[in-house]
Amino acid sequence: MNASGLFAPVIPERIIVTEYTIGYIVGSISSTSINRRLAKALEKVAPEGVTLKEIPIKDLPFYSPDHDGNFPEVATTFKTAIEDADGMIIVTPEYSRSIPGVLKNALDWSARPYGEASFNDKPTAVVGTSQGGIATAAGQQHLRAVLLHYNALVLGQPEGYIQSTPGLFEEDGTVTDEGTAEFLRSIIEALVTLVARTAPAEVPAA
Ligand SMILES: Cc1cc2nc3c(=O)[nH]c(=O)nc-3n(C[C@H](O)[C@H](O)[C@H](O)COP(=O)(O)O)c2cc1C
Repeated sequence: MNASGLFAPVIPERIIVTEYTIGYIVGSISSTSINRRLAKALEKVAPEGVTLKEIPIKDLPFYSPDHDGNFPEVATTFKTAIEDADGMIIVTPEYSRSIPGVLKNALDWSARPYGEASFNDKPTAVVGTSQGGIATAAGQQHLRAVLLHYNALVLGQPEGYIQSTPGLFEEDGTVTDEGTAEFLRSIIEALVTLVARTAPAEVPAA
């Protein structure tokens, strides 16, 4: 059983046999974002061999199909960073039972030009925090639907519904509750397990 009360993933012992780079997107550009604190907390609790690296979205212009023939550099850099990562984590706030527009805009860039979705086949975990008990869960369900449309390999469990209470995450990402730190670590471990399981098999040269 995990903190979401449902299915705990089976994580083989010592699954981490190599170095993994996990990209993450924070779906908030607020200077006081609690989801950014959560992202920093994930960075802090990542197991040895796993490096978390932010892929920023704040400088992306609004997406329009007018860009399809000539993507701005900031957008190609964004797409390449997703494609180069072994796996992805999206840390999202809930806005009105969905995700913030800035995050949807970034995901629109990731999905275009048509046929070149950067999340295609990408192991991806979804997490988020909100002050209210259910808010982040509602937002994350929308996000999961979008990612599945891109054919991302969306991690089913654990579900990262974190209720933000005052002092739970310090500004530098320190998690003040060991149970929460352990739960966050288990999400990264489950994602890395998914990365390892879905890595293309190496075919020996003929
Ligand atoms: C446009 C908008 C809509 C929101 N809708 C909800 C909501 O429906 N339920 C809720 O609990 N919080 C809602 N919030 C509050 C956010 O979840 C809260 O501000 C949270 O701290 C945002 O995450 P951040 O601090 O990482 O930016 C909303 C905030 C905004 C700006």
